[in-house]
Amino acid sequence: MLKVQNGKLTETEYCIEAEGKNAAIFTTGNGYMGVRGSFEEFGSIRVQGIYVRGYIGTIIEIMEPFPDNEYMKNFYFNEEKLKDFEKQESVVNLSDFLLVRISVDGEVFYPWKGKILSWERTLDPKTGVLERKVVWDNGSGKQTRFLFRRFASYENKHKYCMYVSVSPLNYSGKIKILSGIDTKVKTCGQKILREVGKFGDEVMVQQVKTADKYGFEAAIGVKNEFRLNGKNADKTERECNCLFADILEKQVSPGDLLELNKTACIYTSRDCASIEEMKDSAQELCLTARAFEEELKAHLAKYRVLFEKTDIEIEGDDEAQGYLRYANYQTIISACDDSVHSLSAKGLTGERYNGFVWWDCEIYQLPFFIYTLPELAEQALLYRYRLLKSSKENAAKDGLGGAKYAFCSSVTGDERVWIYARHPFLQIHINADVAYGIINYYRVTGNLSFLLKYGLEMLCEIARYWISRVQFENGRYELKNVTGTDEHHLYVDNDAYTNYLVQFTLKKTLEYLDRFSDRAGKWRLNKEEIAKVQDIVKKIYLPLEDNDLIPQFDGYFNLSRTLPVAGGSSAKSFQMKQSGLYHLSQIIKQPDVMLLFSYIYREDEKFTEQQYALNWDYYEAMCETASSLSFPVHAIASADSSRMLSFYKYFLDSVKIDIDDLHNCAWQGVHSGCLAGGWISIFRGLFGINMAENAIYVEPNFMPLWKKIKLSFEYRGIRIEATLEGKTLTFEKTSPQPLEIVFRGKEMLFEQQRLQLAL
Ligand code: BGC
Repeated sequence: MLKVQNGKLTETEYCIEAEGKNAAIFTTGNGYMGVRGSFEEFGSIRVQGIYVRGYIGTIIEIMEPFPDNEYMKNFYFNEEKLKDFEKQESVVNLSDFLLVRISVDGEVFYPWKGKILSWERTLDPKTGVLERKVVWDNGSGKQTRFLFRRFASYENKHKYCMYVSVSPLNYSGKIKILSGIDTKVKTCGQKILREVGKFGDEVMVQQVKTADKYGFEAAIGVKNEFRLNGKNADKTERECNCLFADILEKQVSPGDLLELNKTACIYTSRDCASIEEMKDSAQELCLTARAFEEELKAHLAKYRVLFEKTDIEIEGDDEAQGYLRYANYQTIISACDDSVHSLSAKGLTGERYNGFVWWDCEIYQLPFFIYTLPELAEQALLYRYRLLKSSKENAAKDGLGGAKYAFCSSVTGDERVWIYARHPFLQIHINADVAYGIINYYRVTGNLSFLLKYGLEMLCEIARYWISRVQFENGRYELKNVTGTDEHHLYVDNDAYTNYLVQFTLKKTLEYLDRFSDRAGKWRLNKEEIAKVQDIVKKIYLPLEDNDLIPQFDGYFNLSRTLPVAGGSSAKSFQMKQSGLYHLSQIIKQPDVMLLFSYIYREDEKFTEQQYALNWDYYEAMCETASSLSFPVHAIASADSSRMLSFYKYFLDSVKIDIDDLHNCAWQGVHSGCLAGGWISIFRGLFGINMAENAIYVEPNFMPLWKKIKLSFEYRGIRIEATLEGKTLTFEKTSPQPLEIVFRGKEMLFEQQRLQLAL
């Protein structure tokens, strides 16, 4: 059972069947590393996981689906490719440095043995500390109290800090603590790490290497400091087998307290030039590590800033508050302060999706960072810039111009998506998504040096791709044979989301080129290219029927409004709620059209209220929410249509997607895009804020279920605090710089420190 208690996500009993799921949910991290919430005493396969962003290897993936209906055969799988498919790149599960195994008179503490008398595991989003308090009866009446605390440091991203205490409650006996590294770990059920060496005295270091063509290396250092009743206690011995560990054995009685202060430090090939350097760095960092409480203080000095800048205070609903803070914590730790890798679909919380970066990044995750922590958003975009060269190669491979971003990318930018699935290769909206990310970042931050050094070049190369990809037919430009964001409909023509977004991003590209023509590099579009892009912007087909409904793609409304079903063995593992013949049906997996009304802000190109209302009514009914990326979109659309109970429900679905395991796969890792959507639902849905270059546009929605909501965001380097209380919205800023606000269509200047608006 998971609940929010005192602001912390709390597990009140040990539950074997929820171990995997809760391991994903209780992941701690700092953007560089992610450490699943497995137990110190034993890291079960599929439960345990320690990942470093950008540390990758090769795995074998066994795929044996039954394409047993017409839809799966003709649309979903490429069965020839299924025969070829075998290897895939993946995040690597590093050796388990959490290992702390405790025995009482020879009996090891495992929660599934003996009797748990009390159990409380909490994750505190305010501190990033995962804590577990247990009282255990070993089965023969000996009761012991354990306390485990741990966090990934924001003071130094290579460092993970742990504290354990053990106290016998009603017996005298021998307690043995074994602490170090469990070197027997697997990634996706495979042994892909080879040990290169084990060293050390005060600090133990294990060196490993991936057993594949990459041979990426890593060094994991661990320092253990034991104490008995406050006095240092030396280890009794060291074990050097697959458990590489220090051992302390002491005779204790009730009232005695055994403590362990443990620090683990990781360096990999992504950080150091040689394995020697990795080893030395890990060793040095461990040696300088301080006691847990001091480390915590240093960590909090950095982490608190991130917490505060992203926090939303909700008065009058402790539950919603707690779950949102939890979701924010997972979002914060999904971002790294460098561009080696980027925001992946499951953060560093599991192996599913192999750590790949998807379109979720620019559309669902990046806005959180653009609006609250723009320096981290910039890293995600610099990652895309690093992939520009390979994206040009991707386009060239398809015989097209410019750059084509991979639908799934890893450390490199070549296409990493599973070759047997047909649709991702057609999801060329990724190119418009990346462009939108750049535009959204620039218009909110005003970071011109980024735009001129990196952003505009990417926009130009993306524009070149569209020039070569569009087809001119029937007096208009069309994008045929694509898959939109709704993965249930493949091989469609003129996907609404794609066409609208392509038009908007191209228009912006032209605008920036025009404005900064003297500062654009040789990559700029030439005269003919500019003329062509202008023509596309003018004549690209933007689907909208006379009745104000937007067809998701050509012929969409001719399909059935129900879902015919056939076959049935494997569809559910491919995220379909039924074995549906989706190609015959209007039932969609996730929002496409509705994104244009919610997440995407096209400045002056707004739809009418009538169009919004009609399309929302229609597409909400057609969406089977088989992708978690549906919930925050639906939350925003509900708020915009003053359906506050629906908003509340969809908002909770967004932040509790994994806690309630709505998609029955939380053990594989959390749904990062959906979790980031908790913050966005409130910012965009309740506060109704959209930021453009010229002004902040505000269309707030009244929320009767919450007393007061307070958040802060950044616009053009200025921090603004926004409070929604009843029917009053207040903005506050400390900077004297005036800002343009457009409140429900009315322009106003936000000059003073405070601006109050009546809903
Ligand atoms: C969704 C995609 C998404 C991917 C990664 C899929 O289930 O349909 O839109 O990019 O998951 O989150």
